[in-house]
Amino acid sequence: MNQASNGVAETSGPELQMHETHKLRQKIDRRTARIGVVGLGYVGLPLAVEFADTGFHTTGIDLSTERVQQLNGGINYNEDLSDQQVQHVVEKGLLQAVDDYSISRELDVFFVCVPTPVTAHKDPDTSYIEAATQSIAEHLRPGQLIILKSTTYPGTTEEVVRPILEEAAQEEGLTLGRDFFLAFSPERIDPGNQQFTTANTPVVVGGMTPACTELATLAMGQVVADVHTVSSPKVAEMEKLLENIFRSVNIALVNELAQLCDRIGDVSMWEVVEAAATKPFGFMPFYPGPGLGGHCIPIDPHYLSWVARKYNFETSFITLAARVNEAMPFYVVDAVVRAISHQPVRLSDAKVLVLGVAFKKNVDDTRHSPAHTVVKLLRDQGVETIRYSDPHVSSFQAESPHEDAIPVERVEVTEEVLAEHDVAVVLTDHDAFPYQRIAKHAPAIVDARNALEHIPHNRDKIYLLGGGDF
Ligand SMILES: NC(=O)c1ccc[n+]([C@@H]2O[C@H](COP(=O)([O-])OP(=O)(O)OC[C@H]3O[C@@H](n4cnc5c(N)ncnc54)[C@H](O)[C@@H]3O)[C@@H](O)[C@H]2O)c1
Repeated sequence: MNQASNGVAETSGPELQMHETHKLRQKIDRRTARIGVVGLGYVGLPLAVEFADTGFHTTGIDLSTERVQQLNGGINYNEDLSDQQVQHVVEKGLLQAVDDYSISRELDVFFVCVPTPVTAHKDPDTSYIEAATQSIAEHLRPGQLIILKSTTYPGTTEEVVRPILEEAAQEEGLTLGRDFFLAFSPERIDPGNQQFTTANTPVVVGGMTPACTELATLAMGQVVADVHTVSSPKVAEMEKLLENIFRSVNIALVNELAQLCDRIGDVSMWEVVEAAATKPFGFMPFYPGPGLGGHCIPIDPHYLSWVARKYNFETSFITLAARVNEAMPFYVVDAVVRAISHQPVRLSDAKVLVLGVAFKKNVDDTRHSPAHTVVKLLRDQGVETIRYSDPHVSSFQAESPHEDAIPVERVEVTEEVLAEHDVAVVLTDHDAFPYQRIAKHAPAIVDARNALEHIPHNRDKIYLLGGGDF
């Protein structure tokens, strides 16, 4: 065995195989492996902090200079992490952030956590994955493990990531599964969830080869208590989509039945779900709402539909669920317009207060939130004055394809503000909202989340989605 000028051991054949797998295994076991987290967003930052907290020297790579500067200054921008958690690992030198890949040859294990959006035609946009992989490939060296975490369609790791890495590997004479390693391990983080965090949420791992699976399992096992291995990245990619499609389909089901309850009258879907949830097996409660949001549930199913089309296969559940869920903001806006019609005010003079623009409770994420569509539809209906309040979101503009964004003024939920608006519409049931005050002072309330369930209120001024009289 020779020592190359860059310090990397040069070996060949089975000796190298033993060498690289064994060496990386030892580094991970001894916590001397250097971790790289690519993409420091909702997924990447908590993962990076978790590894750093466990004692691994961790480097976050993000193209956003602003995020990198914030982190290196010990500034936390993730609501699920405490400022102390971030400061602690940064001050101890266990977490640093960089905005280019020049350091990547020094890193042993990469977690790729970049966005996976859809195009205007709802086809997968894997360009972020490709760009990140290309950057890693440019510095590829023996002994590196790359774990893709971004949600994507089955086949991405094998058909998109692998060829990029192998092209670079070929130049270096490296073989996948022997000299470097590749796996997929989907992310399950649920922002805002205090009960299930990175450490206590099981993860799934599927590697390109047995050695890839073994090393990726070992790496994930450093920060997660329970790692479930599957036979390939494709299975892991597919299971993640199943998780998200399961949610989308079940939410669509209750959304449809909520509308039926409103049609029947005097049957509240909320009471129905609560009753069904007493069954201790075979039922899991899902709740109606104003529509889906976030970077996952409204987007990911389209990744599978796209693959299905390549196989001349129609994913009808995905299509149907999307149709029902995407119609929910329209249903909510109809109720707002009806509520306004019961007030002594013309639609164009009406003032609407949107309570909650984040896509779900207790988070600051407004990506694809139903609030975008609700504001746009209200404006289309002629409502000029639309304001919002959200304790987690400091600024908001309603975005829609092919149209200019609509800036929305932020206000606090004071008695005066509530009284001044003709209708308050609860789109997000943040814990921090003053529901007593809202129930007392808003002239009319459209409640798309059953947020006022436990607040004494005048039923006549509440329009509860799925409540049987919406
Ligand atoms: N947000 C969630 O709750 C959640 C949950 C499970 C899975 N996921 C999946 O995880 C992935 C990441 O989602 P997110 O919500 O963390 O996204 P995000 O937008 O919050 O963060 C992505 C980060 O990647 C950075 N980035 C983009 N291109 C890069 C590149 N080439 N190199 C380095 N950094 C780059 C961006 O600057 C950004 O900071 C997506 O595939 C998403 O579907 C998200």
